[in-house]
This record gives sequence, C-alpha cells and structure tokens, in this order.
Amino acid sequence: MPTSRLPGFHNLTRAERLARIVAETGLGEEQAARLARAAEVDGDLAEMLSENVIGVMGVPLGVATNLIVDGEEVLVPMASEESSVVAAVCNGARACRATGGVTTEADAPRMIAQVQLIGVSDMAATRAILEDRAEEIAAICNACDPVLVERGGGFRTFETRVAGEFLVVHLIVDVRDAMGANAVNTMAEALAPHLESWTGARVGLRILSNLADRRLVRARARWRAGEIGAGMVEGIVAAYAFAAADPYRAATHNKGIMNGIDAVALATGNDSRALEAGAHAFAARSGRYGPLSRWQRDAAGDLIGTLEMPMAVGIVGGATRAHPTAQAALAIMGATSAGRLARVMAAVGLVQNFSALRALAGEGIQRGHMSLHARNVAIAAGAEGDEIERVAREMVARGEVREDVARALLHGGKG
Ligand code: MEV
Repeated sequence: MPTSRLPGFHNLTRAERLARIVAETGLGEEQAARLARAAEVDGDLAEMLSENVIGVMGVPLGVATNLIVDGEEVLVPMASEESSVVAAVCNGARACRATGGVTTEADAPRMIAQVQLIGVSDMAATRAILEDRAEEIAAICNACDPVLVERGGGFRTFETRVAGEFLVVHLIVDVRDAMGANAVNTMAEALAPHLESWTGARVGLRILSNLADRRLVRARARWRAGEIGAGMVEGIVAAYAFAAADPYRAATHNKGIMNGIDAVALATGNDSRALEAGAHAFAARSGRYGPLSRWQRDAAGDLIGTLEMPMAVGIVGGATRAHPTAQAALAIMGATSAGRLARVMAAVGLVQNFSALRALAGEGIQRGHMSLHARNVAIAAGAEGDEIERVAREMVARGEVREDVARALLHGGKG
C-alpha cells in the first residue's frame, strides 16, 4: 500500500521523483521509462509551469482549416484528445464559407474582482462611504499596475451588490490583452485594508469572478439551406428548441461548444477551467440553465446560428507567454490581441456546435466519431505499429468499433 505522505517530494529532481513514485506504487519499468521519455523535450518547461512534475501529458495539437472570422481567413490550432473535434470545425467552417464565415464582436476586456465585506450593518450607509472614496479606490487600484494603465487599461469603476448577508464590492478593470486574473486579484488585495478602515467592516475574500459577464463575445454565422439541406435546417432548429427546453440537453449542447473553445484555450495556454466556469454560470444567469447558442431559420430558409458567452482569455502573461507551443499557436492564428483571440474562439465554439448538431440531427455522431476514434480503440486493445491502422480500418469497414472486436482482429479471429 503506497503512502501519499512524501515529505520533501517537491525538492527532488524530476528523475528522483519518478523513481520515488515507482518505488511507492510499483509502477512498471516500461511505463516509467515512457513517462521519462515523454518529458525529455518539455520536462524542464513543465517544472517551471507546475509542481511535483514527473512527466508531461502530451495532447494532440491539430489545426482547424476553412474558418473565416470577420472576413479574415484564420487557421486555428486546437489541442484536444477527443477525436472529431478538429474535423468538426473544419467541416462546419467549410459549409459557411459561401456566406462569408463567422462575424463576431467582443466587449472591452473588463474583468470583475470581488471583495466580500463581512459585518456590514447598514448597507446603504456603507455604499455611500465607498461612493465618497471613488477616486481613492481608482488610484489604489491603478497604482497596482502602472504598465496596464499605460497600455490604456486599468480600473474603470466599482459597483456594490448585496449577496446574502454580505456587501460585495465589484472592481471592474480593463485588463487589455491579459486574461487578467493576476491584475484584478492584486487590486482587490491592495484595496482590502482600505475598505476595512473606511467602513469598519471586515474583508473576507478578494478574488476575481469567473462569471466574466462584462467581457462577452458574440458570434454569428449563416449556413445556406441549399448547402446543408432544408431538412437539416429544421433538424438543427429543433435540436436548439430541445436544448432551450431542457437543462439536461442544454448541458450537452454547451459541452459541444466548449469542445472547441477549450481546445483553443489549451493550445494557446489559456485557462479552460475559468472559461468553463464562466460559460456555465452565464448559461444559468436567468435562474434556469440554457444553451449558450441559438439556432433559427431566416426568411430565406437558411440557418442562422448565434453565440454569446463570456470569454476571459489573454495573449500575455501566464502559460501563454511561458509556453513556446502557446506562442506558436498564437502566431499560427495571427492573434495579436486578446480581443481577436476571444472572437476566433467564439467562432470556433459556434461552428463546433453547428457540426455536432448537424451530426446529431442527421445520422448521429457515432459513425463519424467512431471511425476517427477507431485508432484509439485499436491501441487500447494492444495494437502496435502497423497493426493500429489495419485493425482500425477493419473495424470501421465492419461498422463495429469496439475493443473486443479489435482484440479478436489482433489475434486473427473474426471479431
Ligand atoms: C461530444 O463531445 C459533444 C456532443 O455531445 C455535443 C452535443 O451533443 O451537442 C456531440
């Protein structure tokens, strides 16, 4: 039985840590060697980015083709382990090229930091105190990040909300090309002692909100009925109606959107958990969880898709700057501002959603998905080298992509 108590583990070298894990868990030699090999190129970088590193988990990086966003052609790097995510964007984007691709718009990059005030007995009086200090609040926040201010960003305003028994101060900050978590958290922490001394309240949490609803992005595209078929337009509109009526379906509908958005986030070193949190909180803003996108038929019978959601992403700071792959991904996209990145990501989310709904409203997703997934199944069944392709192809031809079939094919059986 291994112990999870490993004092000094973080002080070991990567190789020593791996050896320790092998000793504790009985991990096979071959598996350990595989972990060590996978970290040969990027192990040192991984250690800079995270802690207690023993390896690097490689995720395939693909490039989605065919996308036009606001009149500009764009190649989009996507990191995803899920088969068919990249292919779905390629196909969906190709199908709306004739109508000019996706048009988008993004709000100014404003993030919210929350400061929780505890023990406020008179909410209105405390609010008034803060109103009187508005200029000082701005100055304290902006002093935290003169470079941001120089670049045209910085503190914009503050608001107060009552949440349960607490008065909550929201600092609204324009973070320019950053995701902004560090900038706004620093401001919230710097302001906290001042808020305590002005109001007599005690400060609790000081942290950004991932419900970044001051930083929304919108995307819109049209797919011609002549291109996808009038029946498909109807099918997708009905799929949307299902998601609008049922949170169980809306969760999966939105998962499809996030398949694309998270893949671009990962490729560009952005925080996919922050995006997920923001997306789902936004999807539930009415009190009832719903779809982030809408699908309608226009007067000409064409399909119109629109998407609106928070998009807190950056091109500076954090892993985006530190990770050469993220830098390369941004260079491939030609994303020179956080706004452009956010708009391309919204376009990817919308197109991804289109392709998922097209498959679901048509033949279902399994045939396309499974043929792309067949190689994974073959590997899981123990196929190696040339066997992988042979077994995958045979399973697809039979329409039976399953591990038991792969195993039987490997061992010369009929499956
Ligand atoms: C699978 O990763 C995503 C889908 O389930 C999305 C959807 O159902 O809309 C296909």
